[in-house]
This record gives sequence, structure tokens and C-alpha cells, in this order.
Amino acid sequence: MAMNKKSLDIAIGSLHFNPVSAFSGANWNGTDDTFTQQFYEQNLSQFWRPEDVSLQSDLLVWKVLPDTVKHAYALNLLILTFLDTYQGDIGMPVVSRSIADEFHQRKAVINWMAAMENAVHAKSYSNIFMTFLSTQEIDELFAWGKQNRNLQNIMTLIVGQYEKLDQMNYMKKYNPSQVDFSDEQFKETQWKAMVASVFLETWLFYSGFYYPLYFYGQGKMMQAGEIINLILRDEAIHGLYVGKLAIEIYQSFSKEKQEVLNDWMMDFMKKLYKEQEELAETVYDPVDLTHDVKVFVRYNCNKALMNLGFDPVYEHEEVNPVVLNGLNTETKTMDYFSMKGNGYQKMKSVALDDDDFVFNKPKINQ
Ligand SMILES: [Fe+2]
Ligand SMILES: [Fe+2]
Repeated sequence: MAMNKKSLDIAIGSLHFNPVSAFSGANWNGTDDTFTQQFYEQNLSQFWRPEDVSLQSDLLVWKVLPDTVKHAYALNLLILTFLDTYQGDIGMPVVSRSIADEFHQRKAVINWMAAMENAVHAKSYSNIFMTFLSTQEIDELFAWGKQNRNLQNIMTLIVGQYEKLDQMNYMKKYNPSQVDFSDEQFKETQWKAMVASVFLETWLFYSGFYYPLYFYGQGKMMQAGEIINLILRDEAIHGLYVGKLAIEIYQSFSKEKQEVLNDWMMDFMKKLYKEQEELAETVYDPVDLTHDVKVFVRYNCNKALMNLGFDPVYEHEEVNPVVLNGLNTETKTMDYFSMKGNGYQKMKSVALDDDDFVFNKPKINQ
């Protein structure tokens, strides 16, 4: 029924307008900061779809792999699926919601990343499963993930941080009279969730990436390897971006508080590392690669710490050159009709290198 002028006036009059908490729009004419729009451009320029990569030619290779190898390969992708699922379902959305309303551009960048995690990354792993495995095998794989103690413990540790921030977000927004925490405590929880996010993106994913990269570096299972390369190219900028936001928050704390938080992070890291080690043994012992994978786990843990503004904690060790070869995300030369490498571009973009993300990054002393 059409609203007449009088009923419209009444409807508007019944709303309580408060200029202090008024809605504001995302104004892209200005900038939220010196780096968010760069990340916006990079994120959108490297957009891709799971169906961009055909997996058919890998099927011939897959069919002749030993069962132990197939099993290890599938378990890794399953672990990656679980991590990406929750990063998309709760991790990124919660971090986005925790950011103050006026930072609409930051929220937009994080929301974009959130959409990639499950809708593109997790979906891509499913596409690999659907190409190589039967429905029964896929169901068994997902059931394995639900009962594997180490994977579940990792999820509990990471998602636990997201849920704490989620609760605080909702309290602040919808139940402010019941808030029993200070702004400082909120920021601590927000920072811890960002640490969890960077650990997941820049560290925990990589034990799962190792095996596809190990094949890719030897010129095998190239299409699945392309998917992994596209995913890790995304995760690289996700970890950098959230790391930058985390550094900003960390620097707002007193030296004493920073020490307390640093201790918390080291303890959190050790708990995750223990689970990672055991999970690596389960997955990689049957294919004799556990030692190498643990080196790679420590290598990426150091990288995650650096993204968060800290010094590395593990000694430098040589990573298997085959995997580093597979990890090389420089644009690859390939036949467009047989495969779509990560050189594929929806829009005009340039290859990234580490220097693109040096924004006079302050070093935080531990
Ligand atoms: Fe992801
Ligand atoms: Fe990500």
C-alpha cells in the first residue's frame, strides 16, 4: 500500500535520530590511511574463480600415484579446507566488524578477503576433491577432519580467539549497558584475533601447501599446483594486511602491556606449533617428508611473526629447494588453453614482490 505524506511523516517522526551515532557512508574520495587503497587495488586485481583452472590433465597423473601419496595429498587439502572455511565464516568477518565504523575502506578490503576464503579457496579444494575422488571418499575425508584431534585443537585455538572478539563486538554494539570490559581490553582481544588470523594465513596454511608445492616444483600435478599458487598469492596479502593493522594496535599499548601480550603470543604460538608438529607426523610420516615439513613450518612461523612486527624465533634452516621452486609465484609461462596459471589476470596488474609492502614498517622490540 502506498504511503501518503502524513503516514510518512509519522514513520520518520517515530525514529530517534542521534547525530553522534549517525550512519556514515564509505567515501572513497579520501583515504582511511596510507596503505589500504593499495591493498584494495591488489586484492581486486588478483581476483580469480575456482573454475578458472581445469584439473583434467592432473587426473592422468593422479591415477598412477600410490595410495599413500594420494591419501597424504587429500588430507592436506582437507586441512586447508577447514582453515579456509572458518577464516571466511568467522575470522575475517569478526575482524572487519571490530574495526571502528569510520574505517569503511578497511572494512571493504577485509570483507573482500573474507569472501575469497570460503567462496573461492575452500571451493577450489572441493573442486580438486570432486575431480579426483568419489563422493564416498570425499565424505570419509571430511569425517576424518571432524575427528582428528590435532586439527580440531588448532581450530579451537584459532576460532576461540575469533569468538572472544565476536562476543565483545556484539556486547559493544547491542548491549552497551552490560559491557564489563574496558576499551583497552577490547583492543587486546582485537589484537589477539589478528594474531590468530596472521598465524593462520601466513603460517598454518603452509604445512598443507607443502605437498602440492612439492609436486608442483617437480612438474607434477601442475593444475592443482596452480590453484595452490593462486591461493597462497591471496593469503600472502591477507597476512600482510591484517599484520599491519595488528602492528598499529600493538603500538598503542604501553611497554608493560606489550610485554604481557608478547608472552601471550609466544605461548599461543607454542601451543599451535605442538599441534602442527603432531599433525605433520600424521600426514607426512607415511610419505617420509615430516622432517622437511617441520622445517617449512618453522620457516613460515618466522614469516608470520615478521608480519606482526616481531623478530623471527627459529634459526634459519634451508627449505627443500623443490618446494621453494613450487613456491615461486612469479608469473609463469604456460599454455593458456591447457592451464590457467597465476599469470592469468582479470584486470591489469603487476607481479608483487616483498618490497611492495615495505611501508616504513616499524620494528617492534620484543
Ligand atoms: Fe584463504
Ligand atoms: Fe586468507
